[in-house]
Amino acid sequence: PQHVLDIASLSSEEINSFLELGEALKEVLKRPIPKVPTLRGRLVVLLFYEPSTRTRFSFDRAAKALSADTLTFSAKGSSIEKGESLLDTVKNLKAIGAELIVIRHPMEGAPHFIAKHINIPVVNAGDGTHEHPTQALLDLLTVKERLGDFSGIKVAILGDIKHSRVAKSDILAFQKMGAKVYVSGPAYLLPTPLEEEYFRIYPGGFKVCYDPKEAIRDADVVIALRVQKERHGKPLIPSFIEYQTFFGLTFKELELIKKGALLMHPGPINWGVELSPEVEQYPFQVILDQVENGVAIRMAILLKLLTDGKTYEVTH
Ligand code: CP
Repeated sequence: PQHVLDIASLSSEEINSFLELGEALKEVLKRPIPKVPTLRGRLVVLLFYEPSTRTRFSFDRAAKALSADTLTFSAKGSSIEKGESLLDTVKNLKAIGAELIVIRHPMEGAPHFIAKHINIPVVNAGDGTHEHPTQALLDLLTVKERLGDFSGIKVAILGDIKHSRVAKSDILAFQKMGAKVYVSGPAYLLPTPLEEEYFRIYPGGFKVCYDPKEAIRDADVVIALRVQKERHGKPLIPSFIEYQTFFGLTFKELELIKKGALLMHPGPINWGVELSPEVEQYPFQVILDQVENGVAIRMAILLKLLTDGKTYEVTH
Protein backbone atom coordinates (compact mmCIF):
# COMPACT_ATOMS: atom_id res chain seq x y z
CA PRO A 1 0.00 0.00 0.00
CA GLN A 2 0.95 3.65 -0.47
CA HIS A 3 -0.29 4.63 3.02
CA VAL A 4 -1.35 2.85 6.22
CA LEU A 5 -4.61 4.63 7.03
CA ASP A 6 -6.78 1.88 8.49
CA ILE A 7 -7.14 -1.89 8.74
CA ALA A 8 -10.42 -1.69 6.78
CA SER A 9 -8.51 -0.92 3.56
CA LEU A 10 -5.72 -3.50 4.03
CA SER A 11 -6.05 -7.00 2.59
CA SER A 12 -5.09 -10.06 4.62
CA GLU A 13 -2.09 -10.49 2.26
CA GLU A 14 -0.91 -6.94 2.98
CA ILE A 15 -1.38 -7.48 6.72
CA ASN A 16 0.57 -10.71 6.51
CA SER A 17 3.44 -9.06 4.65
CA PHE A 18 3.77 -6.44 7.43
CA LEU A 19 3.80 -9.24 10.02
CA GLU A 20 6.44 -11.24 8.16
CA LEU A 21 8.70 -8.24 7.70
CA GLY A 22 8.15 -7.20 11.34
CA GLU A 23 9.19 -10.69 12.48
CA ALA A 24 12.33 -10.54 10.33
CA LEU A 25 13.25 -7.08 11.62
CA LYS A 26 13.17 -8.20 15.26
CA GLU A 27 16.54 -9.81 14.50
CA VAL A 28 18.00 -6.34 13.77
CA LEU A 29 16.81 -5.08 17.16
CA LYS A 30 18.65 -7.95 18.90
CA ARG A 31 22.04 -7.12 17.33
CA PRO A 32 24.80 -5.55 19.49
CA ILE A 33 24.31 -2.38 17.44
CA PRO A 34 20.58 -2.47 16.65
CA LYS A 35 20.73 -0.26 13.60
CA VAL A 36 20.88 -0.69 9.80
CA PRO A 37 21.61 1.97 7.17
CA THR A 38 18.61 1.23 4.93
CA LEU A 39 16.81 4.57 5.34
CA ARG A 40 19.89 6.77 5.80
CA GLY A 41 19.14 10.35 4.81
CA ARG A 42 15.34 9.90 4.77
CA LEU A 43 13.15 12.17 6.92
CA VAL A 44 10.14 10.93 8.89
CA VAL A 45 7.89 13.48 10.64
CA LEU A 46 5.92 12.44 13.73
CA LEU A 47 2.93 14.78 13.88
CA PHE A 48 1.08 14.35 17.17
CA TYR A 49 -2.04 16.38 17.99
CA GLU A 50 -2.83 14.10 20.96
CA PRO A 51 -0.63 12.70 23.76
CA SER A 52 1.30 9.48 23.17
CA THR A 53 4.10 7.51 24.81
CA ARG A 54 4.22 4.10 23.09
CA THR A 55 3.28 5.02 19.52
CA ARG A 56 5.35 8.19 19.29
CA PHE A 57 8.52 6.79 20.83
CA SER A 58 8.34 3.43 19.06
CA PHE A 59 7.97 5.15 15.67
CA ASP A 60 10.94 7.33 16.60
CA ARG A 61 12.97 4.28 17.66
CA ALA A 62 11.89 2.37 14.54
CA ALA A 63 12.95 5.21 12.23
CA LYS A 64 16.31 5.59 13.98
CA ALA A 65 16.95 1.81 13.92
CA LEU A 66 16.67 2.13 10.13
CA SER A 67 18.94 5.24 10.19
CA ALA A 68 16.19 7.65 9.11
CA ASP A 69 16.06 11.12 10.66
CA THR A 70 12.96 12.16 12.60
CA LEU A 71 11.29 15.42 13.49
CA THR A 72 8.73 15.24 16.28
CA PHE A 73 5.97 17.77 16.05
CA SER A 74 3.60 18.48 18.94
CA ALA A 75 0.63 20.78 18.40
CA LYS A 76 1.59 22.69 21.56
CA GLY A 77 4.39 25.13 20.82
CA SER A 78 3.81 25.08 17.03
CA SER A 79 2.08 27.57 14.72
CA ILE A 80 -1.13 25.53 15.18
CA GLU A 81 -1.54 27.73 18.26
CA LYS A 82 -1.66 30.72 15.88
CA GLY A 83 -4.42 29.03 13.89
CA GLU A 84 -2.47 27.29 11.10
CA SER A 85 -4.54 24.57 9.42
CA LEU A 86 -3.70 20.86 9.31
CA LEU A 87 -3.14 20.92 5.56
CA ASP A 88 -0.90 24.01 5.67
CA THR A 89 1.03 22.38 8.48
CA VAL A 90 1.75 19.20 6.48
CA LYS A 91 2.55 21.16 3.29
CA ASN A 92 5.13 23.14 5.26
CA LEU A 93 6.57 20.00 6.86
CA LYS A 94 6.92 18.51 3.37
CA ALA A 95 8.69 21.70 2.21
CA ILE A 96 11.11 21.23 5.11
CA GLY A 97 11.87 17.76 3.74
CA ALA A 98 9.37 15.31 5.25
CA GLU A 99 9.16 12.13 3.16
CA LEU A 100 6.60 10.35 5.34
CA ILE A 101 4.13 11.66 7.90
CA VAL A 102 2.99 9.71 10.95
CA ILE A 103 -0.09 11.46 12.33
CA ARG A 104 -2.20 11.17 15.48
CA HIS A 105 -5.21 13.46 15.49
CA PRO A 106 -8.44 13.77 17.52
CA MET A 107 -10.58 14.04 14.36
CA GLU A 108 -11.68 10.83 12.66
CA GLY A 109 -10.44 10.83 9.05
CA ALA A 110 -7.70 13.44 9.52
CA PRO A 111 -4.97 11.06 8.17
CA HIS A 112 -7.19 10.17 5.17
CA PHE A 113 -7.73 13.87 4.46
CA ILE A 114 -4.03 14.73 4.34
CA ALA A 115 -3.22 11.56 2.37
CA LYS A 116 -5.56 12.86 -0.36
CA HIS A 117 -3.81 16.21 -0.58
CA ILE A 118 -0.13 15.46 -0.14
CA ASN A 119 1.83 13.01 -2.28
CA ILE A 120 3.97 11.39 0.41
CA PRO A 121 3.07 8.32 2.49
CA VAL A 122 0.84 8.91 5.53
CA VAL A 123 0.55 6.57 8.51
CA ASN A 124 -2.41 6.79 10.89
CA ALA A 125 -1.12 6.68 14.49
CA GLY A 126 -4.70 6.97 15.83
CA ASP A 127 -7.56 9.17 14.54
CA GLY A 128 -10.19 10.01 17.15
CA THR A 129 -12.36 6.98 17.90
CA HIS A 130 -11.93 5.56 14.36
CA GLU A 131 -8.82 3.35 13.94
CA HIS A 132 -5.29 2.70 15.22
CA PRO A 133 -4.00 0.34 12.53
CA THR A 134 -0.36 0.08 13.66
CA GLN A 135 -1.55 -1.02 17.12
CA ALA A 136 -3.61 -3.80 15.52
CA LEU A 137 -0.59 -4.94 13.50
CA LEU A 138 1.60 -5.14 16.62
CA ASP A 139 -1.20 -6.97 18.45
CA LEU A 140 -1.38 -9.49 15.60
CA LEU A 141 2.39 -9.96 15.67
CA THR A 142 2.30 -10.61 19.44
CA VAL A 143 -0.43 -13.25 19.05
CA LYS A 144 1.26 -14.86 16.03
CA GLU A 145 4.52 -15.19 17.97
CA ARG A 146 2.84 -16.88 20.92
CA LEU A 147 0.02 -18.90 19.34
CA GLY A 148 1.42 -19.45 15.84
CA ASP A 149 -1.84 -19.15 13.95
CA PHE A 150 -5.03 -17.11 13.95
CA SER A 151 -7.48 -19.46 12.29
CA GLY A 152 -10.40 -20.36 14.52
CA ILE A 153 -9.06 -18.65 17.66
CA LYS A 154 -11.42 -16.65 19.86
CA VAL A 155 -10.37 -13.10 20.75
CA ALA A 156 -12.30 -11.30 23.52
CA ILE A 157 -12.09 -7.50 23.61
CA LEU A 158 -13.40 -5.96 26.81
CA GLY A 159 -14.32 -2.45 27.80
CA ASP A 160 -14.82 0.92 26.19
CA ILE A 161 -15.37 -0.31 22.62
CA LYS A 162 -17.31 2.83 21.69
CA HIS A 163 -14.39 5.21 22.20
CA SER A 164 -11.54 2.81 21.38
CA ARG A 165 -9.78 3.10 18.03
CA VAL A 166 -7.68 0.09 19.05
CA ALA A 167 -10.85 -2.01 19.36
CA LYS A 168 -12.08 -0.93 15.90
CA SER A 169 -8.76 -1.88 14.25
CA ASP A 170 -8.40 -5.13 16.24
CA ILE A 171 -11.98 -6.24 15.48
CA LEU A 172 -11.26 -5.98 11.74
CA ALA A 173 -7.65 -7.18 11.83
CA PHE A 174 -8.20 -10.38 13.80
CA GLN A 175 -11.20 -11.35 11.65
CA LYS A 176 -9.24 -10.67 8.45
CA MET A 177 -6.64 -13.17 9.70
CA GLY A 178 -9.30 -15.83 10.42
CA ALA A 179 -10.00 -15.32 14.14
CA LYS A 180 -13.42 -14.66 15.64
CA VAL A 181 -13.87 -11.61 17.85
CA TYR A 182 -16.29 -11.24 20.78
CA VAL A 183 -16.63 -7.87 22.51
CA SER A 184 -18.17 -6.99 25.85
CA GLY A 185 -18.37 -4.11 28.30
CA PRO A 186 -20.96 -1.72 29.68
CA ALA A 187 -23.92 -1.66 27.26
CA TYR A 188 -23.54 2.07 26.68
CA LEU A 189 -19.96 1.49 25.43
CA LEU A 190 -20.77 -1.37 23.01
CA PRO A 191 -21.47 -1.24 19.25
CA THR A 192 -25.11 -0.76 18.25
CA PRO A 193 -26.79 -3.55 16.19
CA LEU A 194 -26.08 -1.59 12.98
CA GLU A 195 -22.43 -1.16 13.90
CA GLU A 196 -22.32 -4.86 14.74
CA GLU A 197 -23.29 -5.61 11.12
CA TYR A 198 -20.51 -3.31 9.84
CA PHE A 199 -17.87 -4.98 12.02
CA ARG A 200 -18.85 -8.55 11.09
CA ILE A 201 -16.54 -9.48 8.22
CA TYR A 202 -17.74 -13.09 7.91
CA PRO A 203 -20.71 -15.00 9.40
CA GLY A 204 -19.94 -15.81 13.03
CA GLY A 205 -16.81 -13.65 12.96
CA PHE A 206 -18.03 -10.95 15.35
CA LYS A 207 -20.37 -10.90 18.31
CA VAL A 208 -21.43 -8.27 20.84
CA CYS A 209 -21.96 -9.85 24.28
CA TYR A 210 -23.82 -8.06 27.04
CA ASP A 211 -22.48 -10.62 29.54
CA PRO A 212 -18.66 -10.36 29.75
CA LYS A 213 -18.45 -14.03 30.78
CA GLU A 214 -19.80 -15.03 27.35
CA ALA A 215 -16.98 -13.13 25.65
CA ILE A 216 -14.24 -14.37 27.98
CA ARG A 217 -15.24 -18.04 28.25
CA ASP A 218 -12.79 -20.27 26.33
CA ALA A 219 -11.05 -17.26 24.77
CA ASP A 220 -7.53 -17.73 23.36
CA VAL A 221 -6.75 -14.01 23.67
CA VAL A 222 -8.24 -11.39 26.02
CA ILE A 223 -7.65 -7.74 25.22
CA ALA A 224 -8.63 -5.30 27.97
CA LEU A 225 -9.12 -1.66 26.95
CA ARG A 226 -8.59 1.58 28.80
CA VAL A 227 -11.73 3.41 29.89
CA GLN A 228 -11.21 6.60 27.85
CA LYS A 229 -12.55 9.10 30.34
CA GLU A 230 -11.28 12.05 28.27
CA ARG A 231 -13.76 11.10 25.50
CA HIS A 232 -16.79 10.50 27.75
CA GLY A 233 -17.72 14.04 28.71
CA LYS A 234 -19.15 14.38 32.21
CA PRO A 235 -20.33 12.51 34.16
CA LEU A 236 -18.19 9.43 33.50
CA ILE A 237 -20.45 6.55 32.45
CA PRO A 238 -19.98 4.19 34.17
CA SER A 239 -17.90 5.48 37.08
CA PHE A 240 -14.51 3.84 37.63
CA ILE A 241 -15.89 2.09 40.75
CA GLU A 242 -18.83 0.64 38.81
CA TYR A 243 -16.59 -0.37 35.93
CA GLN A 244 -14.12 -2.14 38.23
CA THR A 245 -16.97 -3.95 40.03
CA PHE A 246 -18.77 -5.25 36.95
CA PHE A 247 -16.14 -5.37 34.17
CA GLY A 248 -12.65 -5.22 35.78
CA LEU A 249 -10.49 -8.29 35.14
CA THR A 250 -9.16 -10.21 38.15
CA PHE A 251 -7.77 -13.75 38.43
CA LYS A 252 -11.37 -14.92 38.99
CA GLU A 253 -12.43 -13.89 35.47
CA LEU A 254 -9.21 -15.32 33.99
CA GLU A 255 -10.27 -18.78 35.25
CA LEU A 256 -12.80 -18.78 32.40
CA ILE A 257 -10.26 -18.41 29.58
CA LYS A 258 -8.37 -21.25 27.92
CA LYS A 259 -5.22 -22.56 29.59
CA GLY A 260 -2.33 -20.51 28.23
CA ALA A 261 -4.58 -17.83 26.75
CA LEU A 262 -2.92 -14.43 26.32
CA LEU A 263 -3.82 -11.30 28.28
CA MET A 264 -3.19 -8.05 26.39
CA HIS A 265 -3.76 -4.32 26.83
CA PRO A 266 -2.72 -1.55 24.42
CA GLY A 267 -1.78 0.84 27.26
CA PRO A 268 -1.87 3.16 29.01
CA ILE A 269 -3.52 1.07 31.75
CA ASN A 270 -5.84 2.32 34.48
CA TRP A 271 -4.62 -0.26 37.04
CA GLY A 272 -7.43 -1.11 39.44
CA VAL A 273 -10.09 -0.22 36.85
CA GLU A 274 -9.94 -2.43 33.74
CA LEU A 275 -7.15 -4.63 35.18
CA SER A 276 -6.71 -5.59 38.80
CA PRO A 277 -3.02 -5.07 39.76
CA GLU A 278 -2.72 -8.80 40.61
CA VAL A 279 -3.11 -9.85 36.94
CA GLU A 280 0.30 -8.38 36.15
CA GLN A 281 1.51 -11.71 37.61
CA TYR A 282 -0.63 -13.79 35.20
CA PRO A 283 2.00 -15.91 33.36
CA PHE A 284 0.60 -15.29 29.87
CA GLN A 285 0.31 -11.52 30.24
CA VAL A 286 2.11 -10.06 27.19
CA ILE A 287 1.54 -6.33 27.61
CA LEU A 288 5.19 -5.29 27.31
CA ASP A 289 5.77 -7.79 24.47
CA GLN A 290 3.15 -5.74 22.60
CA VAL A 291 5.19 -2.59 23.17
CA GLU A 292 8.41 -4.31 22.08
CA ASN A 293 6.73 -5.63 18.93
CA GLY A 294 5.52 -2.10 18.21
CA VAL A 295 9.07 -1.10 17.29
CA ALA A 296 9.54 -3.98 14.82
CA ILE A 297 6.13 -3.55 13.19
CA ARG A 298 6.69 0.19 12.77
CA MET A 299 10.10 -0.52 11.23
CA ALA A 300 8.28 -2.79 8.76
CA ILE A 301 5.77 -0.05 7.94
CA LEU A 302 8.43 2.63 7.39
CA LEU A 303 10.51 0.29 5.24
CA LYS A 304 7.61 -0.77 3.06
CA LEU A 305 6.27 2.73 2.53
CA LEU A 306 9.64 4.40 1.96
CA THR A 307 11.22 1.77 -0.26
CA ASP A 308 8.16 1.16 -2.40
CA GLY A 309 8.06 -2.44 -1.20
CA LYS A 310 11.20 -3.23 -3.19
CA THR A 311 14.18 -2.90 -0.86
CA TYR A 312 14.41 -4.83 2.36
CA GLU A 313 18.18 -4.48 2.70
CA VAL A 314 18.74 -4.86 6.40
CA THR A 315 22.42 -5.79 6.61
CA HIS A 316 25.19 -3.55 7.88
N1 CP B 1 -1.20 2.14 22.71
C1 CP B 1 -0.99 3.44 22.44
O1 CP B 1 -1.38 3.96 21.39
O2 CP B 1 -0.31 4.13 23.42
P1 CP B 1 0.08 5.66 23.33
O3 CP B 1 -1.20 6.46 23.37
O4 CP B 1 0.96 5.92 24.55
O5 CP B 1 0.80 5.89 22.04
